[in-house]
Amino acid sequence: MEAVHQSPHVLIFPFPAQGHVNSMLKLAELLALASLRVTFLNSEYNHESLVRRTDILSRFVQYPGFKFETIPDGLSQDHPRVGAAMRDMFGSLELITKPIFKQMLFEINPPPDCIIGDGILGLTIDVANELGIPIIPFRTTSAGCIWVFSSIFDMIQAGELPIKGNQDMDCLITSVAGMETFLRFRDLPSFCKVSDVKDPLLQLMARETSKNFKANGLILNTFEELEGATLSQMRTKCPKIYTIGPLHEHLKARLADTNQTMSDRSSNSFREDDRSCISWLDKQPKGSVVYVSFGSIAVLPREKLMEFWFGLVHSGKRFLWVLRPENVPRNDGECDVVPTELVEGTKERGYIVDWAPQEDVLAHGAIGGFLTHSGWNSTLESVTAGVPMICWPCFADQQLNSRFVEEVWKLGLDMKDVCDRRVMEQMVNDLMVAKREEILKSATEFAKLAKGSVNAGGSSNCNFDCLIEDIRMMIKNC
Ligand code: UDX
Repeated sequence: MEAVHQSPHVLIFPFPAQGHVNSMLKLAELLALASLRVTFLNSEYNHESLVRRTDILSRFVQYPGFKFETIPDGLSQDHPRVGAAMRDMFGSLELITKPIFKQMLFEINPPPDCIIGDGILGLTIDVANELGIPIIPFRTTSAGCIWVFSSIFDMIQAGELPIKGNQDMDCLITSVAGMETFLRFRDLPSFCKVSDVKDPLLQLMARETSKNFKANGLILNTFEELEGATLSQMRTKCPKIYTIGPLHEHLKARLADTNQTMSDRSSNSFREDDRSCISWLDKQPKGSVVYVSFGSIAVLPREKLMEFWFGLVHSGKRFLWVLRPENVPRNDGECDVVPTELVEGTKERGYIVDWAPQEDVLAHGAIGGFLTHSGWNSTLESVTAGVPMICWPCFADQQLNSRFVEEVWKLGLDMKDVCDRRVMEQMVNDLMVAKREEILKSATEFAKLAKGSVNAGGSSNCNFDCLIEDIRMMIKNC
């Protein structure tokens, strides 16, 4: 067997946000389980949160050759790092973090044989190319999303972008290959809904994605049985795509092979998990609770939250709601913080926490549905747990994910662009009662496929072995 000090050294650099760090830490552990040496590069800010609230240090110490390094994200300590302010990160990383990263690569010992950089962080590709280090980007979004991003210039050429003021948003887009029968203007990622095609964020997404296609391969947190049709389109432009997801399930499967379980470990959350919600779920009937979470970044205005809340209470169904502190409605002096009807309805049938152990929640038997913002991690976690979804996407890839959930995979209902208590109430009842049987059938089928893909002989399991093999070959050929 190869000694650890002879095995390839991979440096992993995620975009400094919860959804990105969460999935890339799982990838890091999979690589460590395959006996690769791994350096995980976290932003100083996020590393401090992780060390304070999780067991990452004791968990990773068992892997010889694994280490954490940190780097500034270029933002001030009191920057909110949520909502629209997250956009500041793109500029600060390019301006401040990039030169530090380059210098770090000269100093790091042993030097990395290969970099796995977050595909949205083009700086990792630029620096790796400059220094001649092999680079494999990892994208935390779906294949469908990457394919749409890579088609931005085609949409511009076809005159479909920018979207015209009088455009019927329910019309189908014609210039994204393979999606002509279901992709509407309404479903385009929020970055695409701009009036000027020179918009910096739109250009950035298109540019970084085209860089991803020219690297030494591309790793995706998805699986062939879910996104096979889109992946076939993508492979015409980028032949080496490693689909190795769902990563959380993949890690669970590989840990089980070494007789370890996930149950005694913390999540990878920057916030404290409130596990009291699991005790609350234990007391609820099977399949009766709607889990509600809008992910780690979105900040919702008070009026919208109130519509969701009324809709949930009026539906008469039980609900568990993750209401992050920055989303809690505040008393602005003009109106009550929360109307009595909601307080009473929540006391009777609801439970609210700041942050939940989401994977455990979705796997709990009491959960019957998920009102989600359609972030890719949440979507995949729900698919794997076989939980039907109501999607209320907020930004970026989420608009597209929700379209796939309803129209392509038939795993739930897409509520995008509507925020109304009556619609919310109707959707909850459709999901939990009227349309339940039909949706649950697809959900159960896809959950089976997701689990099968990561077990021995499954598509993601085999693709991960190929990735390890290719990294080893890459180093031999250097
Ligand atoms: C955003 C994007 O929308 C997403 O598609 C992209 O891949 C990453 O950035 P975010 O808002 O963080 O994502 O959502 P999501 O991708 O769903 O990730 C949130 C993660 O936080 C999930 O892994 C979820 O399990 C975890 N989470 C969320 C918790 O552990 N507890 C909670 O209470 C809420």
